[in-house]
Amino acid sequence: MGYSSLKLDKFLISMQNARMGHAQQAQISGSVCFVRAYAKINLTLDISGRRADGYHELATVMQTVDLYDTLCLTATDDARVSLICTRPELSNTENLAARAAQLVRQRLAIRQGVEIELYKRIPIAAGLGGGSSDAAAVLLALQQWWQLPLSPFDLLDMATALGSDVPFFLTGGLALCEGRGERVTTLAPYWPPSMRWLLLLKPAISVSTAAVFRNLPATDYTDGTHSRAISAAFQARSTPRLEDLYNGLERSVLETYPEVARARDDLLDAGAPFVRLSGSGPTLFAAFSELACAGRVQELMQAQGYEVHLSRAIHPDAGYVCLY
Ligand code: C5P
Repeated sequence: MGYSSLKLDKFLISMQNARMGHAQQAQISGSVCFVRAYAKINLTLDISGRRADGYHELATVMQTVDLYDTLCLTATDDARVSLICTRPELSNTENLAARAAQLVRQRLAIRQGVEIELYKRIPIAAGLGGGSSDAAAVLLALQQWWQLPLSPFDLLDMATALGSDVPFFLTGGLALCEGRGERVTTLAPYWPPSMRWLLLLKPAISVSTAAVFRNLPATDYTDGTHSRAISAAFQARSTPRLEDLYNGLERSVLETYPEVARARDDLLDAGAPFVRLSGSGPTLFAAFSELACAGRVQELMQAQGYEVHLSRAIHPDAGYVCLY
């Protein structure tokens, strides 16, 4: 049976969308499927050591934010995966989104081809998980759209093979991620009022995650304390202590990349109450209780030439669903 000829019953589709664990809700029609892929920030990042496989053992609390890429998947008859992106340097089949589609096809011996159009809004190589989220969105969209016999374990296994952050994006929201990042514990949604509005500032440099991890001295290792403290505070619906919003890569990134240190100082000078690095950076985030303050700081930073996105934390159920 050709997958593209599958026509899904509308009731079934809405049941499936209701069940989806992430805001990445697929919009399904005959041969085209749209899906959103949201970015994340790391509230904490505790790195406890280097493992024998070269990866680092970590604990991190991540939260989905409402900055997103849009993917359009089209079923094709040419038995291949192709990808076109609004960022030409990402328009190739090495792109994690294309590799996710290829992995699904291989795993289930599917002949049907897929063309992926990727409208990139999330800054790339920025510590916001854009590539990982695109890959997870493709896994989830194909599973729903083509009604694939993939268990949650199968999805997790494929996500882990694609990258350490990809498993988080299968569920999204607020989660504690451990191990390489692939051991995801979803936490009850909570977001402190003092952090209602987020500014995401992307300094105009690229940072290699691998290089940042490789150069991390053991003196920056921590044993997961901050991640456990933030998880506990959010579960108790209480305001986190600023010292627990800790990123073990931040000291090293600020020291190695003066552009990031300067951007951090500029954000603080403009009135941000506090500033933290997301993931391996270079994106910095600042949180505000009031939109007016966030907007003022955003304007000041943009006037200095910075790329700044005004965003907010979102919960998986807050997704945008549109069927046609
Ligand atoms: O898993 P992913 O391919 O996204 O990781 C990118 C790079 O970041 C890895 O090649 C590795 O150098 C580093 N990394 C790490 N420990 C982790 C996750 C990533 O050292 N837990």
